[in-house]
Amino acid sequence: MEDKIRVLLSEEEVDKRIEELGRQISRDYEGRSVHLICVLKGGVFFTCELAKRITVPVSLDFMSVSSYGADTKSSGVVKIVKDLDEPLEGKDVLIVEDIIDSGRTLSYLIEILHKRHPASISLCTLLDKPERRVADVKVDYVGFRIPDEFVVGYGLDYAQKYRNLPYIGVVEV
Ligand code: IMP
Ligand code: MG
Repeated sequence: MEDKIRVLLSEEEVDKRIEELGRQISRDYEGRSVHLICVLKGGVFFTCELAKRITVPVSLDFMSVSSYGADTKSSGVVKIVKDLDEPLEGKDVLIVEDIIDSGRTLSYLIEILHKRHPASISLCTLLDKPERRVADVKVDYVGFRIPDEFVVGYGLDYAQKYRNLPYIGVVEV
C-alpha cells in the first residue's frame, strides 16, 4: 500500500536554503579549503547540492554509521559501517548530515573524528529536531529546525523508502 506523504518543506524552499548555506559556508571558509564528510546514506543528497554551492575548494569523503534499524525509533547503538578513505590530519572538516535527532550519532562521530587531528571540525545539518536532543552537540549550520515528526525525502528514509523525494515530507499514519 502507498503511504500518504504531506509536504513539510517544498523542493523550492529546500533548494533556496541550501543555496544560502553554501554562501555562508563559502564566506566562513574564505581562503581555506573545506573537507566535507558526508554521512551516508541520508546525507548524500544534501551533500551533493551543498557542495555545488560552495565556492572555496572542496574535497569529499564518505562515512556510514548506523544508529537506526528499519524502525523509526533510536536504538541508541551507533557503529561504523563504512569508514573514511582519507586521513583528516590538518584538514578543516565539515560533517554534513541529513538530520540531528537525539544527537547520539553525531556526538559519537565527532568524538572519534577529533582523535584523527583535523585542523577543525564543524557540523552542518539539513534538518534539526531540537526537542529530541539527548546528547549535547554544537551545530554550526542548520538548514531548518523542524518539529518532532518523522520526515522523509531529500535523503531521509522510512525503511529505506522515499530517499529520492525532492522535498521533505511527513509520512501520515
Ligand atoms: P540521532 O543519533 O538520534 O541524532 O539520529 C540521527 C539519524 O537518525 C539520522 O542521521 C537519520 O538517519 C535518522 N533519523 C532521525 N530522525 C529521522 C526522521 O525523522 N526521518 C528519517 N530518519 C531519521
Ligand atoms: Mg543520517
